[in-house]
Amino acid sequence: MYRIGRLGVGSPLTRKQWVRHLQQLSSPELRSRFVQYFEKHGHTPVKSASLIPHNDKTLLFTNAGMVPFKEYFLKPGTAPYKSATSVQKCMRAGGKHNDLDNVGYTPRHHTFFEMLGNFSFGGYSKEDAIRLAWRFLVQELELPVDRLRVTVLDTDEVGYALWKKQGLPDEKIVRCGAEDNFWSMGDGEGPCGSCTEIFWDTQDPSLSEEDRWLEIWNLVFMEKYRTADNKLTDLPVSCIDTGMGLERMASVLQGKKNNFQTDQFLHLIQGIRENLQNRNIPVMLSEDPSAHEKIIADHFRAMCFLISDGVVPSNVGRGYVLRRIIRRALRSAKQLGINEPFLTGLYPYLLQGFNDGSYPELTERGASICNIVQNEEAAFLTTLDRGLALLNNVFAQPNLQHTKQIPPQIAFQLYDTFGFPFDLTLNIALEKGWTVDMKAVEELKEKQRQMGKESWKSDSALDKGRFAEWRNKNILSRFTGYDRTLLDQESQIVAVDIHKKGKKTLVTMAIDPCPFYGLGGGQVPDSGSVTLSNGQEWHVVDVLQPYEGGLVLSVAPSDPKRNIEKSFEEDREFLQSGSLIRAKVDLDKREGAEVHHTATHMLNAGLRSILKTDIVQAGSMVEPKKLRFDFTYGKPLTTEQLQAIENWVNQITITGGETNVKMMSLTDAVSSGAIAAFSEKYGETVRVIEVPGVSRELCGGTHVDDIRRLYPFKILSETSVAAGTRRIEAVAGLSCVEWYRKAYEPVPDLLKLLRASDTKDGVAKLDKTLQQTKALQKRLETLTEKLARAGETVVHPVEAQINDVPVRIHIVDADLDIPFMQKRARVLKESQGEWAHVLVNKNTIMVALDPSQVQTETANSILKHMLRHIKGGGGGQKDFAQGKLAIPITSVQDIENSLVPALTAQ
Ligand code: ALA
Repeated sequence: MYRIGRLGVGSPLTRKQWVRHLQQLSSPELRSRFVQYFEKHGHTPVKSASLIPHNDKTLLFTNAGMVPFKEYFLKPGTAPYKSATSVQKCMRAGGKHNDLDNVGYTPRHHTFFEMLGNFSFGGYSKEDAIRLAWRFLVQELELPVDRLRVTVLDTDEVGYALWKKQGLPDEKIVRCGAEDNFWSMGDGEGPCGSCTEIFWDTQDPSLSEEDRWLEIWNLVFMEKYRTADNKLTDLPVSCIDTGMGLERMASVLQGKKNNFQTDQFLHLIQGIRENLQNRNIPVMLSEDPSAHEKIIADHFRAMCFLISDGVVPSNVGRGYVLRRIIRRALRSAKQLGINEPFLTGLYPYLLQGFNDGSYPELTERGASICNIVQNEEAAFLTTLDRGLALLNNVFAQPNLQHTKQIPPQIAFQLYDTFGFPFDLTLNIALEKGWTVDMKAVEELKEKQRQMGKESWKSDSALDKGRFAEWRNKNILSRFTGYDRTLLDQESQIVAVDIHKKGKKTLVTMAIDPCPFYGLGGGQVPDSGSVTLSNGQEWHVVDVLQPYEGGLVLSVAPSDPKRNIEKSFEEDREFLQSGSLIRAKVDLDKREGAEVHHTATHMLNAGLRSILKTDIVQAGSMVEPKKLRFDFTYGKPLTTEQLQAIENWVNQITITGGETNVKMMSLTDAVSSGAIAAFSEKYGETVRVIEVPGVSRELCGGTHVDDIRRLYPFKILSETSVAAGTRRIEAVAGLSCVEWYRKAYEPVPDLLKLLRASDTKDGVAKLDKTLQQTKALQKRLETLTEKLARAGETVVHPVEAQINDVPVRIHIVDADLDIPFMQKRARVLKESQGEWAHVLVNKNTIMVALDPSQVQTETANSILKHMLRHIKGGGGGQKDFAQGKLAIPITSVQDIENSLVPALTAQ
């Protein structure tokens, strides 16, 4: 018979008997046995504190049993008891202790868990702490000694000796470094100290030697304090802080391989499986729950406890951790096949795990917990599917297969538009073997934050949050603006408000019916006017949909001379809920936006057709005079591709074709191959815009009736917005004609200036001119340099005589051209008129003189005289003559050897 060792002092049991013995100890029993044991040994039992650490700015959540006692470690004199014991609710989903990403994928990580602990604030010694813990394990719980071992800090000789005193042999006391055996509360300031940890041998042959040992209890010898500048100082007295994870210990005592198989989770797992079965979803009834079942169970506990302690979902701090936890749970539910809100159905199962009354807040606050969870579920489920569809499209992108990286733009869009926490996107990516460059995503987030959102949205002074009250009052506006015959219609004010935002006064109203478009999807909101029954006209500046079914108009008096506040008072009688008005949409703006919205769909189809791949739309902006379309694609498009896309759109639009609008179920739309334009919310019934045979997209925007109006179409630019994401800007229809006109307007003038016959000739001429300019520039540079050095390089003239006329012969720098030489010749004859001057520069020769001073020779006679003796030609006047020499003159030597003899020869 196989014996597994002694249970404390009792007789050896068979494996079967032992397992039966252990399974009897449920989690509630463990809670009470622990507290009773320490109470018996002089500890005061203390109720669990809140998960929100009050008066402690260093922590997001209570993450250990010692947190509520932190002050007592620092000032033991203020503690109402010298030793205490507790079962503390803990949360490790932020800060130094964060296990969120491990949940579901390891046997023991949790976001929420309970920590059993005993504490001393100068009440007892290190030896007492070790003895009390050891006896609890081997005598009280009767764990077999053979399956336990401990670690101590490698420098802690005292600790080592104390364990030996308990009878542990050397091979059961392992020494470790500070990374394992020095505990501190957070990253920064706080009490800390060396620790000793007790491990349980799981004897699981499937695990590595290291994983086989499960840490069950940590005894911290709180003796130090870490200051904000990371210095360790001594605490006034040595304290004790211990922590044992209840869920882990339960897995040991119940003989389970992981925490999710213990009584604490059994109920929840059962609840999840019943939910699946009720929905006819096949369930794997394995003893070990699947990762998604584990995630749901863990996260559900966490969300309920967080809400019971007063945390509500939000976009910052604790609220955002809660929101992330709820959203992650919903995504896991989705993976299991659950598509509707269902979490609150697990609530009764959660209560079964805590039926010992240990947390009365769970029952007391049950209704509000469920309420909050349900609202969050409903909000996220509207976008979860579309976000997942977007991700699936990304995974299928051929051009992303080599990097397997989700473009940061997409991760950001998932976060911004679909409410996917970044860690959720990362998790989904990792499951598929993909990654996300989180640094790039963070940079993008920061950039977007600084830029504001879409340019037209950043102008919007409307603040969505302000209209929560209107939503609660169920103030609805039927949008009638899809119907062209209703763009100028009678309507009625259903809510109105005036408020200040900074220095600006805003008047907002909801009207029903409402022809003004403000549903987003990248399309600019309509402008227009609202005319009151007293005849006063108010301009519709902006339109926003702050909640489903609600459209809010921001209005200002059309007459710019009228002050907004005063006008509001003056028109008040006609400007209140119930007042009749006439609503008129600005048709030019609307039509421009429609042309560009439909053009966006055509561009999307054109890209797919030419690039032969299912590109994914990553955002768009539709304005009255242009469009912008972002999509995933790994490399820049070539000029040929861009031209082919442009041609494709032009050829299809010039022949024309009707656009149809169809309402259908989301499933039908998707299965009919409609492309989802992932930037708006859709309900179960969706709107599909179709150009038969060309394009079919889910879209809430407004569109032209016939695509002929998009002709002509022109791509203006193609650039990169982020890794793997390209952006095209384009114009269509009349705006495009206008664009061409503007672009062509200066061309005739340009041709005239260039003296060109047509643009092709113009380009050639301009090219030549530019080349010449470049050469001239270079030359100018050299000359400037030469001139600057002129003083250094002046070569003294050679002096000679022809008959009785004194002559100066100058050598001119080889870089200087003929006009320059001529100028110099003039300057010389004017400034040194008593001389005749000969200038030479390689083959060029010039003679200059002042005939009023030199009368016996002329410039021409001197040149001719020389040319009789040296080869060359030329001639001129009295005062100036120029010629070419057959042999270049490049030095003073040359002058002396050929020019001087030529001059003086008879
Ligand atoms: N405070 C110690 C821990 O959390 C016991 O591990």
